[in-house]
Amino acid sequence: MVKEAFVEIFGSAPEWVVQAPGRVNLIGEHTDYNDGFVLPVAIDRIIEFAARSRKDCRVHLHSVDFQDQVEFSLDCIQEDAGHPWSNYVRGVFKFLETEGYSLKGADVVFGGNVPREAGLSSSAAVEVGAVVLSMKLFDLNLAPLEVVRLARKAENEFVNVPCGIMDQFISALGKQDHALFLDCRDLTYRHVPLHENVKIIVCNSGVRRALAASEYEIRLKQCRQAVAQLRTTGMAVNSLREVNLADLEVASPVLREVLLKRTRHVISENHRVLEAVKVLEKGCLEQFGELMNASHASLRDDYEVSSKELDILVALAQGQPGVLGARMTGAGFGGCTVNLVRAEAAESFAKAVKEGYRKALGLDADIYVCKASDGALAGCSTRSQD
Ligand code: GLA
Repeated sequence: MVKEAFVEIFGSAPEWVVQAPGRVNLIGEHTDYNDGFVLPVAIDRIIEFAARSRKDCRVHLHSVDFQDQVEFSLDCIQEDAGHPWSNYVRGVFKFLETEGYSLKGADVVFGGNVPREAGLSSSAAVEVGAVVLSMKLFDLNLAPLEVVRLARKAENEFVNVPCGIMDQFISALGKQDHALFLDCRDLTYRHVPLHENVKIIVCNSGVRRALAASEYEIRLKQCRQAVAQLRTTGMAVNSLREVNLADLEVASPVLREVLLKRTRHVISENHRVLEAVKVLEKGCLEQFGELMNASHASLRDDYEVSSKELDILVALAQGQPGVLGARMTGAGFGGCTVNLVRAEAAESFAKAVKEGYRKALGLDADIYVCKASDGALAGCSTRSQD
């Protein structure tokens, strides 16, 4: 559909079509910026770009989703408050240039079906897609980790959202039918196969993540404060990843109650990810589900990033037959839950949760049965044929 829009707008076929997926995180929440572990999946919801290069240094950018367009010069890339949707692409072009890559102008159309502001990383998909598109259009050679780093830099330093590395990483390096187990400290990773007989089902609370940005920053600061205070006790730690429960007990008198809770979440969540990978590899899906349930409780009680709607969706899910585990996913304060459901129960699950949610809150939840998909670097971009 983006390709057709390109033809309509620019009058001929695009040179390149590139896709980058959104993501859902199975477990490992609010651990990435603490140097911890995460286990996300790239999903079959994508942002697609159609583009061709230009001889001058102008960029003509069209958003199908926002039905809007904007034009700028590569000589002076600035934030555009009037077209905020364009900043993710602007940021990528800007940092490619400042890092010495040579760009040309381009005609670009993009859009997709990753729900926006739902915690499924539509912005990371735009950023990763824009880097991969630039590689194709301008014949740039970036190593996979460079792609991830640059996409995240656009989000951190151009869009000014202080996110961790998980979203851009999985959008670039996800693998079909696999989750990705990532150590956010040294960026080593491996793909863990998923099981055919269970479905990953995402329930969208439909509630915009109003507090997500401000509360996310508060959590980030609290984690840094906790590290600083633990260091005053003589612990040589650089991040909460390096703290264990025994350390925490010793140090607990110096930490304020709130920092103690935040730290406890990060320690226990990292532990849960390591366990989750082990049990997934052994095929013990019940245990995997229990870890998801425990993750939700910790995010709700210790990290305090859940919401009434998310708690209701999770409780409804946990009461359904065939459900192995359910939890909120992403930054929190609205957005989505992720559920691991036996394949044969998927349909009845979707119906029951939808009905229950409407009954409890008078709200509609969108339900997506997701397929674990390839990331943008897995070769899903193609040179346009016509
Ligand atoms: C957002 C951020 C990620 C991560 C999650 C919470 O999605 O972009 O980097 O911190 O929240 O796990």
